[in-house]
Amino acid sequence: MARAALLPVALLLCLAMASSADAGRKTVGVYELKNKKGDFSIKVTNWGATLMSVIVPDSNGNSADVVLGYDTVAGFVNGSSYFGALVGRVANRIAKGRFVLDGITYHLYTNDGNNTLHGGLRGFSKVIWTVKEYVPSGDSPYITFYYHSFDGEEGFPGALDVYATYQLSGSYDLRIRMNATALGKAKATPVNLANHAYWNLAGHGSGDVLGHQVRVRASRYTPVDDESMIPTGEVAGVAGTPYDLRRLTPLGSRVGLVSAGGAAGFDVNYAVEGDGFRPVAYVREPVSGRAFELWADQPGVQLYTGNWLRNEKGKAGAVYRQHGALCLETQGFPDAVNHPNFPSVIVRPGGVYKHHMLFKFSSPEQRSVL
Ligand SMILES: *[C@@H]1O[C@H](CO)[C@@H](O)[C@H](O)[C@H]1NC(C)=O
Ligand SMILES: *[C@@H]1O[C@H](CO)[C@@H](O)[C@H](O)[C@H]1NC(C)=O
Ligand SMILES: *[C@@H]1O[C@H](CO)[C@@H](O)[C@H](O)[C@H]1NC(C)=O
Repeated sequence: MARAALLPVALLLCLAMASSADAGRKTVGVYELKNKKGDFSIKVTNWGATLMSVIVPDSNGNSADVVLGYDTVAGFVNGSSYFGALVGRVANRIAKGRFVLDGITYHLYTNDGNNTLHGGLRGFSKVIWTVKEYVPSGDSPYITFYYHSFDGEEGFPGALDVYATYQLSGSYDLRIRMNATALGKAKATPVNLANHAYWNLAGHGSGDVLGHQVRVRASRYTPVDDESMIPTGEVAGVAGTPYDLRRLTPLGSRVGLVSAGGAAGFDVNYAVEGDGFRPVAYVREPVSGRAFELWADQPGVQLYTGNWLRNEKGKAGAVYRQHGALCLETQGFPDAVNHPNFPSVIVRPGGVYKHHMLFKFSSPEQRSVL
């Protein structure tokens, strides 16, 4: 009796050790999460807390990888498009790499003309994160990454402890939870994290996304100066403009009508309706039948249609071209540090930043009735 009871305990211990064997490591690795049915999985790497692949079935149950990327981590290290990356300390642009906080002027590395983009030269997407926890399978497999950002990193004030968790749950839900705690007692800092996945629901190498239908729950957006790509400060209505995506709209009917920084397509921040954790956008690819609804608790979402992709060599020999994917980056407003009328992205010492995203992919059964 005692022996029989001991055996399963020993077995459980072994399993627990195997699944957490990589926890605490700071070498670069690739980690997979898979649902019980085996038809929904992702791969991530602790290089930049990057989402490398997302495999989901279509309406006939056929699987495809629906995010752009590279076969190996080396590809992501070399790449310059932020495929799947977790960007920070401050995602999006900061005008002239400069802001004033509590009377002090901070200067950041400018890596986008005269502006700072996605955290500077070596933002959170270009550092090695620590794997804190890794549960690859079961009902809700997950992985948690941790990064300590030091006071002054890329010019930002104050040290920060950052966590990012990727988790599968339900039938086809992919959740990303981020948090960041401002350490020390003296310095406040801006924090604005974003996941920069490039989606193509027909499959990552299937061509352009102009046939994708998109709905964004926003009646306002933040127009930018077309040359500098910096918000003018206005929060304008979408009604009567090609930015109005309140009804499900094929991207192909709009990409020729909008442009940013001289390239055709969307690269725009929407002020999402409401607050708290709520639906933000819906994307559907009619041929495969794949769709997702995106939920998040952030004030904005940047819609980008891969306007600058030019013959980028990606996974499995695929070549990614202009409009080969779309990004929906939930986040604070761009350049919020320089626009007092935008929702604040400042975290006070001891304060905690939180960001919760949920991609609810429709199941094959749901798709057939859409
Ligand atoms: C690195 O990136 C450059 C420019 O995007 C590309 O031409 C080159 O093939 C890449 N090298 C590797 C090893 O991926
Ligand atoms: C950067 O700023 C300088 C000085 O204002 C200006 O001459 C230059 O055109 C700017 N560069 C870019 C790429 O915007
Ligand atoms: C941040 O996330 C980590 C990992 O999920 C968690 O352990 C920690 O408690 C969170 N921190 C805060 C302040 O919520």
